[in-house]
Amino acid sequence: MARERPDPWRETIRLFADRFSGEPVLRAQAPGRVNLIGEHTDYNDGLVLPAAIDRTVTIAAGRNGTGRIRLHAAAYDELVEFPAASPGSVPLQGWARYPQGVAAQLAARGIRLAGMDAVITADLPIGAGLSSSAALEVAVSLALEHAAGVTLPARERALLCRRAEVEFVGIPCGIMDQFAVSLCRRGHALFLDCRSLETHHIPLPSGVVLAVCDTGVRRALEDSGYAIRRRECEEAVRWLRGRGRPITSLRDVTVDDLPGVEKEMPEPLRRRLRHIVTENARVIEAARALEGGKPEDLGPIFRASHRSLRDDYEVSSPELDAMVNAALASPGCLAARMTGAGFGGAVVALVRRSEAQRFLAAVTNGYRQHIGREGTFLTAEPADGATVASLQEP
Ligand code: GLA
Repeated sequence: MARERPDPWRETIRLFADRFSGEPVLRAQAPGRVNLIGEHTDYNDGLVLPAAIDRTVTIAAGRNGTGRIRLHAAAYDELVEFPAASPGSVPLQGWARYPQGVAAQLAARGIRLAGMDAVITADLPIGAGLSSSAALEVAVSLALEHAAGVTLPARERALLCRRAEVEFVGIPCGIMDQFAVSLCRRGHALFLDCRSLETHHIPLPSGVVLAVCDTGVRRALEDSGYAIRRRECEEAVRWLRGRGRPITSLRDVTVDDLPGVEKEMPEPLRRRLRHIVTENARVIEAARALEGGKPEDLGPIFRASHRSLRDDYEVSSPELDAMVNAALASPGCLAARMTGAGFGGAVVALVRRSEAQRFLAAVTNGYRQHIGREGTFLTAEPADGATVASLQEP
């Protein structure tokens, strides 16, 4: 049913032979993720429910016997390098900041990095809200660790990659993406409590596929309202604390508290708070629906989440709204909402597997008719988190 996709590994090996002289000795792979529900809750100590998808960033790498780490990214047709002993000394630009930040964090932990050549390929769309940057970070960390002869626990790796993004790249992201990319399990969504960092895996029904409906409008976390939203949440915490509520984050406010605090709170803080509080409650509802084998119950929960992101959190866009409408009007669609940070990017839809092709045809047309531009569509399976493997001698 699904179209055959080219094998990303073959292309990675071919590029390695083309760009470098030696043989790769390791393969590292990290998936993208789609967040089912729990948007903008991670940096409020809240709840999220992402799933990794079977689209990955793939790295072929080998030690090069020099003191340099050299990385070639196929998507940008660009080779960058930095010293293994002091990876962050001369900051690079663009995509290269992510791997450089990871290397700098590993070095800061006392890990002696080895000189390494690596080719990076991806069959994961970049900038569509599928966490291509977290996938890049985690895959690079796995490759660098392997070449240095160390293995961090997956959670520590996730935390380290997040620190790289926040401190080195300068994007104040939460913890969801690196955790999803590192810890997800095939066939499951990952329920993550971003305060305790407790996780559990919730099976997704095999009769449902994940459809990612990309609006084609690119966002960049750096210049979006992402940092503004974070600041507004911090301001809301300060406002509530100033009125005698001993909270540490918006996670501590419950749906029952809302009527008491909502009236007084100034806008837009009132609506930002309402989104976070109700979204945390929706993550629990969604997890229950999945655990109870009732994926059709996700329809109203996803609708409410999208509305809340559109009206209260104000991170949707006309294209995302049009895509949700097009998805909901297409055959087999159980639930649809914007996913990721917003301000462009993609919609996630849960679609009956038996209707996937009809869904894709209808949503493609529907989006074009609603908004007059072309989207990009893919169906994905819930996949395992990142892995690294030594390459066997033939
Ligand atoms: C981006 C960030 C995540 C999370 C989402 C919104 O993907 O990297 O940490 O905040 O936005 O839910």
